Amino acid sequence: MRLCSSKISVKVEETIAALFPDERGIPEEHRHEEPVIQKEYLINGQLRMWEGPMQEVLSPVCVKTASGVSRKVIGSCPVLTAREAMEALDAAERAYHNGRGLWPSMPVNERIAHTEELICRMREKKRDITHLLMWEIGKSYQESEKEFERTIGYTQNTINALKNLSRLSSDFVIEQGIIGHIQRVPLGVVLCMGPFNYPLNETFTTLIPALLMGNTVLLKPPRLGVLLHRPLLEAFQTSFPPGVINTVYGDGREVIPPIISSGRIDVLAFIGSSKTADLLKSQHPQPHRLRSVLGLEAKNPAIVLPDADMDLTVSECIKGSLSFNGQRCTALKILFVHTRIVDDFLERFSGEIEKLKFGMPWETDVTITPLPELNKTAYLAGLVEDAKKHGARIVNQHGGTVNETFFYPALLYPVTPRMRIYHEEQFGPLVPVVPYNDIEEPIRYCIESSYGQQASVFGNDAGVIANLVDVLVNQVCRVNINSMCQRGPDIFPFAGRKDSGEGTLSVSDALRVFSIRSIIAAMEIESNRAILEEIVNGKRANS
Ligand code: G3H
Repeated sequence: MRLCSSKISVKVEETIAALFPDERGIPEEHRHEEPVIQKEYLINGQLRMWEGPMQEVLSPVCVKTASGVSRKVIGSCPVLTAREAMEALDAAERAYHNGRGLWPSMPVNERIAHTEELICRMREKKRDITHLLMWEIGKSYQESEKEFERTIGYTQNTINALKNLSRLSSDFVIEQGIIGHIQRVPLGVVLCMGPFNYPLNETFTTLIPALLMGNTVLLKPPRLGVLLHRPLLEAFQTSFPPGVINTVYGDGREVIPPIISSGRIDVLAFIGSSKTADLLKSQHPQPHRLRSVLGLEAKNPAIVLPDADMDLTVSECIKGSLSFNGQRCTALKILFVHTRIVDDFLERFSGEIEKLKFGMPWETDVTITPLPELNKTAYLAGLVEDAKKHGARIVNQHGGTVNETFFYPALLYPVTPRMRIYHEEQFGPLVPVVPYNDIEEPIRYCIESSYGQQASVFGNDAGVIANLVDVLVNQVCRVNINSMCQRGPDIFPFAGRKDSGEGTLSVSDALRVFSIRSIIAAMEIESNRAILEEIVNGKRANS
């Protein structure tokens, strides 16, 4: 193994120890000088002011002060109660009005115009949103800007997909003497709950299609990544009729159960853990009435075959496992590497970790940044300890070094099924490598795993890869060849089996998820033709 020179080694150690700046060390354009005290919440088109308890919002970024190093307080947000949550639900239900409300009965092109207005207003807030995204979850400023642009792009692409869908569904079908007109109609009231790692993008990947299809929405921002939605409240208010979007803030365990147990939510769009999803679904009094679209946990494996191109494999595995600190649901979270090449792989991988820039999220090209989840570094350190107890070691120098909310990436080897890291979704910068001799070993892992989102295969023999792909496509929803796992491009279907998800999201699939087909049918006689044409041309339907 190649070791770092002692000089580099000391430098990394020192840099980690001195990672967090004092206020003056933060570049002026990225300083967060005034805490954001958010009192507003949006219900029925009104920005109400909350006078009750507030929740302090802490950044994963720590700052040095006279009294020591601590997480920076960046603001506070309202802790609403079940009462306000139910008021939000009332407003959404009123706006839907059993499908007779202004929004669900509005022609598609007008709903599109409202959504385009939202895009314009959002653009005006880009700087505020990306600034808060960076400070709240520690995502690099560059990646925060990318998340913002991806969200705008997703919204525009969804609008285009809806235009296509509307064109396709505007025809009549005549079969066995019956004329049919098949259309997509909204489902009702949708509860949208996004995750902390893509708090803007993944919230919008359900919010936008839900709205465009004519549903009304309750939006509950994630526990971490909440303040960045504040600049959007006014944009929501001015872009949509009252009650079309309503917000719910506060402790999810307090505000969500009454909403779901009322039985008045038609769709649950949730991205988070399967445990929470199961709990939420079980609270509905008639679960068969609740449609769910769920993005849940995953532990995507990479399988590295003995003939893999090492440069390409290591580069994809580094990106796949460590982009945004490994905090992507699609991250490569376990690497199976053939014993014939594993030493070479570990050496190269360690070398690439050393090249990753770590530091504060405003630094250009930084990859490894502080982690926002409470006690996350202790959790990761616990996984490392457990793996060591069962025979693994940290391969790379400084791997697992902790400073407050910062965890330096650790490459763990050899990992076996006895270790927690083999089974648990680490969602952080910890890379377990499992050596294998027989391809049946990683295959068995995929079959026995609780998760079924994606897998990556690295190799060069088309026949071997084809055989492996045949097996894997029945275990996961996307098999990536010589490429890391990822959600994009957003026109590709994104789904998960087993504990990894329910329903499919993509630009076009999402429009289907948030709607149902309804048919207007009539015996094929002249008078019915005229009636149908009248209805479909919208002369009566929209009057
Ligand atoms: O966290 C889950 C995200 O949907 C992953 O998206 O693969 O494009 O980073 P990504």
